[in-house]
Amino acid sequence: MDKDYILKLFPELDSITDETVKEGAARAWLLSLKESDWEKIEDMPWIPGVAEFITNVDHCRGTAKIAMALGRALIEQEKVELNLDYVIAGAVLHDMGKPLEYSAKGGKTEIGKYLLHPQLGANICMKAGLPAEITNIVQYHNTPGEIPVRTLELEIIRSMDHCHADSMLRKHAGLTVRDVFTGATPKPIKK
Ligand SMILES: [Fe+2]
Repeated sequence: MDKDYILKLFPELDSITDETVKEGAARAWLLSLKESDWEKIEDMPWIPGVAEFITNVDHCRGTAKIAMALGRALIEQEKVELNLDYVIAGAVLHDMGKPLEYSAKGGKTEIGKYLLHPQLGANICMKAGLPAEITNIVQYHNTPGEIPVRTLELEIIRSMDHCHADSMLRKHAGLTVRDVFTGATPKPIKK
């Protein structure tokens, strides 16, 4: 498993212009895999035991594609200042902590009982030497309440992660994010 394996798995990373960001993103996913008990990144379902109709790779790529489209539209149409490299890396990496939260054998890992994937992913971002702006995206992509710095790049990933999750749940399980994560209806069974 090397950088080429990651770039093949996440072709969206090829659109990153800053080579150090691209390499850092590949390093982070490789570190996540190495520290987990998963054999391959693509083996992991989106939410193990809850939503297994797509993979975690499918969800990260889907989020990256719509985040890139939104980021590009904001730059071209509204002339806003935005670091598209951070948007792409942040989207591809946002759920990179999941192989550390969930065991390949089923259920949570030991560390996953105490820390959730955003914290575990942010820790890997720091080990991989990624910029603080990207670590911030991974750490706070789904945190409710107080967040120290809300960059536009973070807001894009928060919204697009939610949109991708919601659209996949509607399509595959006839449910919404609200249904699943507020307990309004039973969790969807894996398909
Ligand atoms: Fe996500």
